Amino acid sequence: MKEHSIKLSILNTLADGNFHSGEGLGEQLGISRAAVSKHIKGIQAWGVDVFSVQGKGYKLAQPMQLLNQQRLQDKVNVPLALIPVIDSTNQHLLERIHSLESGSVCLAEYQSQGRGRRGREWVSPFGCNLYLSMYWRLEAGMAGAMGLSLVVGVAIVEAMEKLGIEGIKLKWPNDLYYQDKKLAGILVEMSGQAGSAAHLVIGMGMNLRMAGDTQGITQPWSCLSEVTEQDIDRNELAAELINTLENALNEYEMSGMQGFVERWNRLDNFLGREIKLIMGNREVSGVARGINEQGGVLIETEQGIETYIGGEISLRGI
Ligand code: ATP
Ligand code: BTN
Repeated sequence: MKEHSIKLSILNTLADGNFHSGEGLGEQLGISRAAVSKHIKGIQAWGVDVFSVQGKGYKLAQPMQLLNQQRLQDKVNVPLALIPVIDSTNQHLLERIHSLESGSVCLAEYQSQGRGRRGREWVSPFGCNLYLSMYWRLEAGMAGAMGLSLVVGVAIVEAMEKLGIEGIKLKWPNDLYYQDKKLAGILVEMSGQAGSAAHLVIGMGMNLRMAGDTQGITQPWSCLSEVTEQDIDRNELAAELINTLENALNEYEMSGMQGFVERWNRLDNFLGREIKLIMGNREVSGVARGINEQGGVLIETEQGIETYIGGEISLRGI
């Protein structure tokens, strides 16, 4: 833990985007220049683009605005834990699920084991994106969870539109797309028994200004900096997304999917386009026709309109 706190202090200093000498950083932290150099390597391993110039010191490739627990907490009504370096924000909440208040949030600057659906990796470099998870106790039980995950996606895109950020679309079941590239992903994980309340962890990763090593990403991706020229305040955006999630989940508990089908279809990235659904070894091709009230995806094939639902389905444009 102490090791992390030294790296975080170094990053706090480097965040201004200026040069800082190894000697100065060492003095500030009471460690040697060699120790600073070792910590810089660790920082690079978190995916941060930091370089050194002889005689000048260390510098970030671009300034960094770090998340701030107090600023965030002042803007939201739910308990919030900012843990800068973590395995996975979803995992953190899942491990504590029975002691949490519904609505509790976990945020991180870096995830060593960020994950997507079906255990795939979510590439999570330090300080340039958002990684946030919220715990929600859903009285409707597991049956309500599918619709809920779609509602969350719609609510997030609508919140972005309110901030003047246009052009973000949805890919069933819960990805945010910009110009056919993945901008953000939502992962809903749950624990609960049939017939009782479901304990859900809703995780979202959104790319803001991704830098550093992105080799682990196996499909086209996008960043918010491509979508808008606005200088996005990470703390403001994180708080806005937390409030959006909380409102959407409350609304879903009260009214379910009512009204959401049209809201989803307006934002559907593939509506009217040729797609295929991949289900294990099986594929179905046709034209995307949006979603239904159960949260299933509709595809028009030669046999007519068919509905598919379930966590094992992948949708791909053709
Ligand atoms: P589907 O579930 O429909 O197959 P998917 O292809 O988006 O959707 P997921 O199961 O959601 O796949 O897994 C995450 C995917 O996101 C992986 O393909 C991975 O390469 C990609 N990915 C990982 N990190 C990022 C990131 N930071 N930004 C965009 N995409 C990412
Ligand atoms: C996907 O598209 O497959 C979903 C990606 C979800 C990533 C987020 S980042 C915050 C939370 N913690 C994780 O480990 N995953 C989710």
